[in-house]
Amino acid sequence: PGRWAVRSEVPADARFFGLGGRACGPRLRDGAYRLWNTDPGGSFGPGDDPLYITMPVQLVVADAATHLMFHDNSWDGTVLLKEGEEGAGSGHDRAGTSELRMDGGPLRCWAMVGTPERVLQTWASLTGGAAVPPGWALGHQHARWGFGDQREVRRIVAGYRERDLPLDAVHLDIDHLDGHQVFTVDRERFPELPRFAEELRRDGVRLVSIVDPAVKAARGNAVYEAGEGLDMFVRDPSGRPVEGLVWPGACVFPDFTHARVRKWWGGLYAERLAQGFSGFWHDMNEPVSFAAVGETTLPRSARHALEGLGGDHREAHNVYALCMARAAHEGLRELRPHERPFLFSRSGWAGMQRYGGTWSGDVATGWPGLRASLSLVLGLGLCGVPYSGPDVGGFTGSPSPELFLRWFQLGAWLPLFRTHASLDAGRREPWEFGPEVLEHARVVLRERRRLRPYFVSLAHLARRTGAPYVRPVWWSVPEDRSLRDCEDTFLLGDAFLVAPVLGPGVDRRAVRLPAGRWYDTETERVYEGPGQVLVDAPLSRIPVLARAGAVVPVRAADGGPELEVWAPSPGRTGGGLVVADVGDGWQEAEAERYVTRWEGSRVVVERQGGDGPREPSLPVRLRGLPRG
Ligand code: NOJ
Repeated sequence: PGRWAVRSEVPADARFFGLGGRACGPRLRDGAYRLWNTDPGGSFGPGDDPLYITMPVQLVVADAATHLMFHDNSWDGTVLLKEGEEGAGSGHDRAGTSELRMDGGPLRCWAMVGTPERVLQTWASLTGGAAVPPGWALGHQHARWGFGDQREVRRIVAGYRERDLPLDAVHLDIDHLDGHQVFTVDRERFPELPRFAEELRRDGVRLVSIVDPAVKAARGNAVYEAGEGLDMFVRDPSGRPVEGLVWPGACVFPDFTHARVRKWWGGLYAERLAQGFSGFWHDMNEPVSFAAVGETTLPRSARHALEGLGGDHREAHNVYALCMARAAHEGLRELRPHERPFLFSRSGWAGMQRYGGTWSGDVATGWPGLRASLSLVLGLGLCGVPYSGPDVGGFTGSPSPELFLRWFQLGAWLPLFRTHASLDAGRREPWEFGPEVLEHARVVLRERRRLRPYFVSLAHLARRTGAPYVRPVWWSVPEDRSLRDCEDTFLLGDAFLVAPVLGPGVDRRAVRLPAGRWYDTETERVYEGPGQVLVDAPLSRIPVLARAGAVVPVRAADGGPELEVWAPSPGRTGGGLVVADVGDGWQEAEAERYVTRWEGSRVVVERQGGDGPREPSLPVRLRGLPRG
């Protein structure tokens, strides 16, 4: 039960990453990082820490090797980081230090060493492969707190359709619930939800429902009455249910650290499925209980089952949302055994990827918020949670047309591509920002749809290999120190390097390239790495470069699949792994390994198999060929 600390030294050149979702990263500089899942309240920017997901998972990248250190301990704690300093050849390097101070719980740690790829694969083998979202959840999703009613949702979906803007899902926030009560529907505002959901689905748009853990403690609330009768809620040391304050008013909280409670809660998603929802958005599960003073969560004395071991909220707090995600995932697998569940959760802990993904939470609208949203996605990916994305446009206020567009252009290259905003925030539909933004946003949405097979492939590979879809640029060259410090560019899988615009008034930006040849995907202009180059970034697009030799599964103009192949560098080979989209069930497609190379003046694309190279299984479209 006592406090303890452990201090480790890392080489002077080492850089720290991870510790869950941090807005100030992805590189974690000197400072104290608390391990206590926290709703920052209102909104957050790069200076706010901790946030909704903290984890004692630290990735260290150094010349000597990359390693991941996991402390399997869910208690409150703090990590104090100090980067080392190199003595410029004087031999007087100062080592970096990482000191972990825990309020309790065991010293039980795991270390994984190797290349980043190897380390993340080992991490996935320890904590589980990432859930593969259904294909539609890799498209564009649109949300807002306060759509208001069915008519407004219909108007917005029609707005997308009439303007020829691809849309795959709409999310209903707490305002569609009856008095904000979980697992209910406001039947005045959404009179025929199942029929409406069916109508949307015929148009290729899924409905996703918010699910908060807090249950309104009131007679007449069926979930409360059932849960109370079955003893499902967290109690205080004297045995009384712990009451808190959330959107519906006075609430109680299911104890998800008990298998029995998870089973009950998982069954409640039957109501959501019957209403026509296809996916689930877990919110307020740090868990939050509003308070004018003090911590906005449950009291530390609150009792939890903790899988039969018994304990209090000090130990259960950080795994509360993880256990909620498990409840939903397991429930949905029973309720809909033939479909992969889709859920993403604001809070979580190590291993949450087994059940679903996450999103930024309430990122503040502004250029710093845009940067923070990239930091979160990259950092979480390095903690083994590959599926996430920000509230595109920011949660609060009204972004300028330029900021909205730049956020949209970045968001389209992240796994979860969702526009969302708060009750009192401005609009986020792409046509609300004038004709120029609309035109550029349409290009973005079409490109995202074209790349769907690539995202599906990355999702399957993330589960099998532990490699996040979105990776820092040092991913395959951790020894390149200049890349270790590069935080404004990222890789999407092996094929693309994305250089978002993160500030106003930009029409050109510097891009640091890993070794090899890269093509501007718009102009096919060639750049040779390693090094830094200046690339055009007009308002119409952010720079996206393709790696020479890359093989990318895409949707062809006729809607069928094809392989986009980028010409390898002369004298070099390229290639890639491709997993075909075999639908939203549990069928496993084999990963196909492609190799690309020059043979005289011809680019050859081969599929590697047991008995020698074979023809590609899909039509090939070559790009980046020398002109003339
Ligand atoms: C907080 C969430 O972070 C936000 O996305 C949501 O809109 C509100 N809760 C209301 O449910």
